[in-house]
Amino acid sequence: MSKLTVKDVSVEGKKVFLRVDLNVPLSTEGEVLDDFKIRAVLPTIHFLLERDARLILASHLGRPKGKVVETLRMAPVARRISQLLGQEVVVAPGVAGAEVERRIEKLPPGGALLLENLRFEPGETQNDPALAEALSRLADLFVNDAFGTAHRAHASNCGISAYLPAVAGLLMERELLYLAKSRENPTRPMTAILGGKKVADKIGVIRYFMEQADHLLLGGAMANTFLRAQGHPLGNSLFEEDKLGVARDILQESVDKKAKIILPVDVVVAEELRSSAPFKVTGVENIPQGWGAVDLGPGTVSLFREIIAASKTVIWNGPLGAYEFPPFNKGTEDVAEAVAYSGAQSIIGGGDIVAALRDLGLAEKFTHLSTGGGAVLKYWEGDVLPGLDVLQEKSGAAR
Ligand code: 3PG
Repeated sequence: MSKLTVKDVSVEGKKVFLRVDLNVPLSTEGEVLDDFKIRAVLPTIHFLLERDARLILASHLGRPKGKVVETLRMAPVARRISQLLGQEVVVAPGVAGAEVERRIEKLPPGGALLLENLRFEPGETQNDPALAEALSRLADLFVNDAFGTAHRAHASNCGISAYLPAVAGLLMERELLYLAKSRENPTRPMTAILGGKKVADKIGVIRYFMEQADHLLLGGAMANTFLRAQGHPLGNSLFEEDKLGVARDILQESVDKKAKIILPVDVVVAEELRSSAPFKVTGVENIPQGWGAVDLGPGTVSLFREIIAASKTVIWNGPLGAYEFPPFNKGTEDVAEAVAYSGAQSIIGGGDIVAALRDLGLAEKFTHLSTGGGAVLKYWEGDVLPGLDVLQEKSGAAR
């Protein structure tokens, strides 16, 4: 990676502002439901604490829109970090200001605290220089390990770099290592699998993979919009009426592109979107009135499997059916197994699909499970990631 990382600078005894993405799902009782993102930043936390840094952990949680929302306080996250670290991490009374500064001054070398939810401050998402400056006063060094937030230009991951030396954390480095390989030098054939609900979120990335991949497989409700654009009657299936035009354009463009778009040939249809609803398999041209597509059919799974088996790199974003309603997770599950045992380099991005694959117990079988959702899509689309862009270059002068 061309950016400086924590390994390139002295951190001993320093107050380090470590921006992490601990935007994790919480239960209604306020317990962390999935600690994948917390575990992912532990290497950077250990690295800094072992070198006697005084650590200021900072993250957003949810979208509280600049107001204090009781259910989005950081306390449950701090409890889980403390358990995983075996060391108490308390939540500061706010994100900046004299009292927070005082608490940080009292931290021993190798001690850590977690700031309150950064998005309780309206200035965070506005990238307000006053907030960025106030955050910078807490520390001597800014380390950005929040890959999942790198596509946002906010005060805590961008603005702050105007006031402090800014380097990457170990998770940021690892994410970029795998993602850069998938973009710059993939072992071919490369297959991209895109799913999820909305075409709107994926237009850029579909166009990117049409140019760069060897095969492009589409599933999930997003594929329904393309099937409708081809003229198939879809019964009650979810699709985006207002995206039919763009779906038609993309299908037209794909004729001359390197990777042809491969859509489902059959689907599982159900009378309702609930686990116990009656279901059956049908060809995409025969979806009956009153039924909706909820998963890939077996013929599609076989087709996808064959392509995956011959691939050397597989990139995957988005579930391929209504996987939250088993048995309509079967298509996603079967494709996951095919990827896991294909021997291909596999890079999986996007919160939903990563959680689904981990639930299947297949996490270890993939080359890289990214902590990024929107950030991964923006990266593949070729957009500048502001949270990465602001970090110091290895060759560059110190900011
Ligand atoms: C994520 O969960 O994808 C990141 O934490 C970014 O969250 P945001 O979409 O609310 O900015």
